[in-house]
Amino acid sequence: MTRDQGSGVRGQGYLSTKRWMREGLVATCGCALLLVAGCRQDMQNQPKLIPQRGSEMFADHRGARPQVVNTVARGQLREDSYFYTGVIQGANGYREEQNLLPFPATLEVLKRGQERFNVYCTPCHSRVGNGLGAIVDRGYKPAANLHDQVRMAQPVSHYFYVMTHGYGAMPDYSAQLTPEDRWAVAAYIRALQLSQAATSADVPGGTQVRELKDIAEAKHLPAGFADPWKLPPTAIQAYPPVTKEGYPAMAPANPADPAIKIPATKPAPAAAQSKPATPAAQ
Ligand code: HEC
Repeated sequence: MTRDQGSGVRGQGYLSTKRWMREGLVATCGCALLLVAGCRQDMQNQPKLIPQRGSEMFADHRGARPQVVNTVARGQLREDSYFYTGVIQGANGYREEQNLLPFPATLEVLKRGQERFNVYCTPCHSRVGNGLGAIVDRGYKPAANLHDQVRMAQPVSHYFYVMTHGYGAMPDYSAQLTPEDRWAVAAYIRALQLSQAATSADVPGGTQVRELKDIAEAKHLPAGFADPWKLPPTAIQAYPPVTKEGYPAMAPANPADPAIKIPATKPAPAAAQSKPATPAAQ
């Protein structure tokens, strides 16, 4: 062997020590392997239940055991079904939404709702809840305007229900928001609705009320900053609703409809993409 020949040049003593070490190592490894294999056999063949597999241990031969009738696992008692579902069983047998929060709407609850709303709902509904969020700007179906007459008239548990199950093009948020957080967001939507239609009569006497327009001007924000904004040309209109059959408007766009603009492949000139600015002189 080339290696042995090579090392043979250095002398016999060195060579035999090396061989002795190598053989020792092989023997140790071999023993260790045998031991490990022995262990594995034992653990591998021990009686146990494997998920989704049958078992000879039970009469029905099912490894996964059904829940014991009339028992509730610890921490899974959902006695307050309105808190978890947002609906009650109506007299006519149908589920009914209620204009009722299952706990008092304290300032703490509203703050939590605001924080969660700004994280999860703002991308589509915008911070003020008008449905023209940044995702919609880029071509998602316009999200509901939470200040239109239909949305204002909905009971507060409807918002909870929508967050729990999704609605039309809107995904559900039950994985992201705990039931408690969903109620907090629902309560905050009510606060938003009040804020967007509030008059100076709604605030306690003596409180100074300033117009957003004036604040924007004082802060030298761009003209038209406080005006309602429109969707940019990048946004896509959805199929119109079929009111007769109760279908909501559907995304994505219907390209056959001439009223619908598909975004150009080439980016539009910068001026056309920015939000429409109203003349500065007012
Ligand atoms: C990915 C975008 C998106 C996000 C994020 C989103 N929504 Fe929506 N939402 C929509 C769209 C789109 C609609 C309209 C659905 C339709 O008509 O198909 C809608 C509709 C609604 C409606 C009206 C339902 C009705 O009965 O008309 C409510 C209330 C609502 N959303 C609340 C929320 C809340 C609260 C959150 C945050 C937890 C949220 N949405 C997050 C896209 C979104």
